Amino acid sequence: MKLVRFDTQEKLFDHAADRAVRIGAEAIGDRGRFLVALSGGETPRPLYERLAVREELDWSAVDIFWTDERCVPATDPRSNTRTVRETLLDRVPIPQERIHPIDGVRRPLDAADACEVELRRVLGADGRLDLVLLGLGAEGHTASLFPRHQALTETGRWIVPAHVSADPPWRVTMTLPLINAARHVLFLATGPEKAEAVRDLIDGKPLPASLVRPTDGELTILVDEQAASLLP
Ligand code: 6PG
Repeated sequence: MKLVRFDTQEKLFDHAADRAVRIGAEAIGDRGRFLVALSGGETPRPLYERLAVREELDWSAVDIFWTDERCVPATDPRSNTRTVRETLLDRVPIPQERIHPIDGVRRPLDAADACEVELRRVLGADGRLDLVLLGLGAEGHTASLFPRHQALTETGRWIVPAHVSADPPWRVTMTLPLINAARHVLFLATGPEKAEAVRDLIDGKPLPASLVRPTDGELTILVDEQAASLLP
């Protein structure tokens, strides 16, 4: 696990964008495509806005998935699909068929089933995403893997429905077997409200986020000074 600290959020997001573009170029160079899972929430917005102007990335070779979705229409301000479309996908020349959203309107199990089929079709036998971008909840959740939820113990499926203590309560989320198979996993944590979770994550306390341990990939955590304020 590699922790990288930044004294400003601007530097953190510039670095995250450079890193994502580098991982993407490597993936396209090695395997002809870049398979990415993006998170929702507020934290990654400045990263998506930076990626939207990175013309050197061959967007025709990028496949976009979501780490999780809130079960709301794609027009709802809480929709992770909406966040990523508005900040990034509507601004870059990515083919529509390479965008693989989770349907927030269908019954959560049906939406999860459909996404599982799509993920297995696109990833094929390799079964690995090139980059999974994760946020961190103040209580240590990541994607929509919340503390003590049975989704944390999933060993077979790559994506499951989850009823959680958050707004909205119904979610569809990637599971640990898929996340931990990724070539690169990148956590972003900014602001004072993330400081305890960052400390506990680094200490290996039993948070959902602590269960993210790529088996054959790189794990990197980018934090700003406020999120790092409880670290030595
Ligand atoms: C979601 C996310 C979730 C998010 C964290 C942090 O849909 O809620 O994917 O895991 O990354 O809750 O959210 P913020 O970035 O808004 O703090």
